[in-house]
Amino acid sequence: MSDFSQRLIAWQAIHGRHNLPWQVSDPYKVWLSEIMLQQTQVVTVIPYYQQFLERFPDVASLASASSDDVLARWSGLGYYSRARNLHKAAQMVMARFGGEFPRTPELLAELPGVGPSTAAAIAAFSFGAHAAILDGNVKRVLARWAGISGYPGTKLVERELWQLAATLLPDQEIERYTQSLMDMGATICTPKKPACITCPVFDDCIARQQGRQAELPTPKPK
Ligand code: ADE
Repeated sequence: MSDFSQRLIAWQAIHGRHNLPWQVSDPYKVWLSEIMLQQTQVVTVIPYYQQFLERFPDVASLASASSDDVLARWSGLGYYSRARNLHKAAQMVMARFGGEFPRTPELLAELPGVGPSTAAAIAAFSFGAHAAILDGNVKRVLARWAGISGYPGTKLVERELWQLAATLLPDQEIERYTQSLMDMGATICTPKKPACITCPVFDDCIARQQGRQAELPTPKPK
């Protein structure tokens, strides 16, 4: 296992977030949380997540609901295409996968609204799949740690980051490792004023060594 993943896992066990309501292995609940968390912060998501689950406790109940009902329960969260895709995806899980969520990132990514990183997060959290995530926060963590320059929105840089993310995956504790990357991005390796002195990979972070935390990841060219 890479030193990077070992350090992150050890850090997560002590300093990471452990009581999030979606830290369960039910793929329906994990999927719902990941969609809500795509563009909305944890504190805002929690009450919506709980109310949504009360109304739609499983994928079958969501699939058979009316669009109006689904949108009403989403109301306030914003980015309503997420709710429409959620509804469509639930119907797809019923019709195409017999009501069971598929277990691989490749198949999960066929659901509307589920991109490659969300698919990997669902597979890792629900099924312990050996799958790399790469959302905006993780791009920042990896670009800084490995000193990767170039705007991560370009195909070339993105490919390099995906490759690195895959290389760093641990053999074990994939759930904790995946959560550690999210927690690091949210609490330590923040866009502004990262808390480097408390970072578990302070020693070997290239951006930290070179004092380039503020320059990495490279912003979108104007
Ligand atoms: N952001 C995206 N997924 C998350 C998760 N599982 N926990 C906390 N924040 C997240």
